[in-house]
Amino acid sequence: MVNIIYVEPSGHRKTIDVEDGWSLMQGAIANGVDGIVGECGGSCACGTCHCYVEESRLGDIPPPEAAEEDMLDTVAAQLRPTSRLACQIKTTAGLAGLVVILPETQG
Ligand code: FES
Repeated sequence: MVNIIYVEPSGHRKTIDVEDGWSLMQGAIANGVDGIVGECGGSCACGTCHCYVEESRLGDIPPPEAAEEDMLDTVAAQLRPTSRLACQIKTTAGLAGLVVILPETQG
């Protein structure tokens, strides 16, 4: 299990133990986190799992592949340097304590 802190659009923080190897999107959906939709089920085809990753931890996460970058251009909320798709980030022990901020809207 990997401890992840989700910040919902309301500002409410939810600390969740996510299964190793699950995506941040799967961990959020399975635990009823507000502010994430995951319409395509994690196949990088909808952009409704947009999140902002804690800036100081960006280096702990592999950079986005081209498909993720393309899909990030379609997200509903403001795109920021810390924007990622939660379905494309797999939890590993190295991500323990990561703060993931959910945007106001997913579309
Ligand atoms: S769940 Fe659809 S792009 Fe992430």
